[in-house]
Amino acid sequence: MPSIARKTLRRVVPRSVRAALLRAAGRTPARAASPARAASPTPAATPEPQAANAAPGRLGPNEPGGITRLHVGCGPENLMADWWNVDIRGFKGVDEVVDVTAAWPWTSLDYVYGEHFLEHLPLDGAVAFLGQALARLRPGGRIRLSTPGLEWVWQTHLRPGGSDDQVVADTYRANRAFHGWGHEFLYSRPFLERLLGRQGFVDITFHAYGESDDPALRGLERHGTYQVVDGWPNVWNVEAARPAGDASATDLPEPPPELLEEIEREFVRYVKSGH
Ligand SMILES: C[S@@+](CC[C@H](N)C(=O)[O-])C[C@H]1O[C@@H](n2cnc3c(N)ncnc32)[C@H](O)[C@@H]1O
Repeated sequence: MPSIARKTLRRVVPRSVRAALLRAAGRTPARAASPARAASPTPAATPEPQAANAAPGRLGPNEPGGITRLHVGCGPENLMADWWNVDIRGFKGVDEVVDVTAAWPWTSLDYVYGEHFLEHLPLDGAVAFLGQALARLRPGGRIRLSTPGLEWVWQTHLRPGGSDDQVVADTYRANRAFHGWGHEFLYSRPFLERLLGRQGFVDITFHAYGESDDPALRGLERHGTYQVVDGWPNVWNVEAARPAGDASATDLPEPPPELLEEIEREFVRYVKSGH
């Protein structure tokens, strides 16, 4: 866009509208095919990769001798050299631009990892993501997710009965935790455990920041503000595995209908109703 037009645009059009116009004109990183909010929990068969901007010499999970550790929602700042870094947005250094709530283009992965990622998916998108992860891991392959702990948020973000100033500040903090940074859903430990278990994952374990029984999953977390308050960690680091003997087809059947029905009944319909 010529600079004179850009200056005029800046003067007369509000920032949010400007951003939308620039996005439409392709001036900011494009989102991959479908936005997470519109994700279907029952994606179709394996698609072709949508985009690849991996550095020369980096081989993806589908290539012989390629990287078989998938880093989902990698963002721009915490790319990992021996992981295949994917994100819905085409940040510099991302290996592949993919919406991981839709069907994945890879199979037989050894590991899937995501930090501060799960809470950014709408709950039905999280179900779709976990279904894909289970289907695309090799039997015995493991997933590790690091996501804010709802119990910690509950314990630390609102102290009713304090001074009005305190409660006003806490009101901002509590609402920030739920709505800020694009958060869609915050997870408690039993909820994570059941969500993973009901999808078919086994060997579900929780770990301290950076710790794991599996050397490949140690020392991965990058957000350096780990804390535990009254026994509640600010992030849950959960691991789970695809059953080792599960040699069924890589395309899973649909997620358990009663799980989809429950999340629709208890949450999704309220979010979608808008009032
Ligand atoms: C809070 S950032 C975390 C980035 C990185 N993991 C970190 O810890 O620095 C969440 C990331 O998830 C990505 N994301 C959100 N929805 C996604 C989706 N459906 N598929 C792939 N990536 C997604 C966002 O674009 C964003 O980069």
